Amino acid sequence: MTSGFGLGLRTQHYNDFLTAPQPVDWLEVISDNYMVDGGKPLTMLDRIRADYPMAMHGVSMSIGSINGLDTDYLKRLKKLEQRIEPMWVSDHLCWTGVHGRKLHDLMPLPFTQEALDVVIRNVHQAQDALQRPLVLENVSSYVEFTSSEMTEWEFLAAIHNATGAKLLLDINNIYVSAFNHGFSSKEFLNGIPIGSVQQFHLAGHQNNGDHLIDTHDHPVCDSVWTLYQQALVRFGETPTMIERDDNIPPLDELLEELDTARTVAQAILHPKVAL
Ligand SMILES: [Fe+2]
Repeated sequence: MTSGFGLGLRTQHYNDFLTAPQPVDWLEVISDNYMVDGGKPLTMLDRIRADYPMAMHGVSMSIGSINGLDTDYLKRLKKLEQRIEPMWVSDHLCWTGVHGRKLHDLMPLPFTQEALDVVIRNVHQAQDALQRPLVLENVSSYVEFTSSEMTEWEFLAAIHNATGAKLLLDINNIYVSAFNHGFSSKEFLNGIPIGSVQQFHLAGHQNNGDHLIDTHDHPVCDSVWTLYQQALVRFGETPTMIERDDNIPPLDELLEELDTARTVAQAILHPKVAL
């Protein structure tokens, strides 16, 4: 498995990557920003791709859509995939629109058999179009559906078992949802099959006292680092990325945070034994 430590490519850092080699093993790009026929974003992408392996990360496949997936979207996604030959292609376990209207948000799904059947059907459609396994990320949530018949981790595991799709575990999102809904994040991790995880995201959130908001605009907090350690113990070496979506700091700050991830992983995966 390709491993190592990556960052999400953000426009603010294009120049850093173009002017000097940076200590990252790979970059994750937001697919939707580059699903165009030309222009500056694609030029930048091609130039940076020449020097770094990439993973594609989408935000609007709407894998939970009861109407099936947008075939035009899948065609454009495949075109980008052929252009940059990513290590893997991910999106979120959510729905993002209805009746052709896009909400530009990642809405949670009810964890029911009916929703599971819809997602499985859509994952097959996506994988047929892409001709490779899809990778799905757990989103954070603030409400739960009373109709849910299983836990989020049972839902994720069932998708993987039925389709071979891999999982992108956002460690911060697990922490946020566990706090908001009162479930055990350790139980979440233990419910995810070994061998199903393609990638980890590490991010920050906003603590509002009685609830957490997944803002992805803060550094990773101590509790999320602890959960990352537990995830490494369970899943072993796994490609890991710092994901900052807002309040983007200078690249050096993110590289420092990525170094912390390296140190944490090293201590768990390759502990030094005192002789
Ligand atoms: Fe994420």
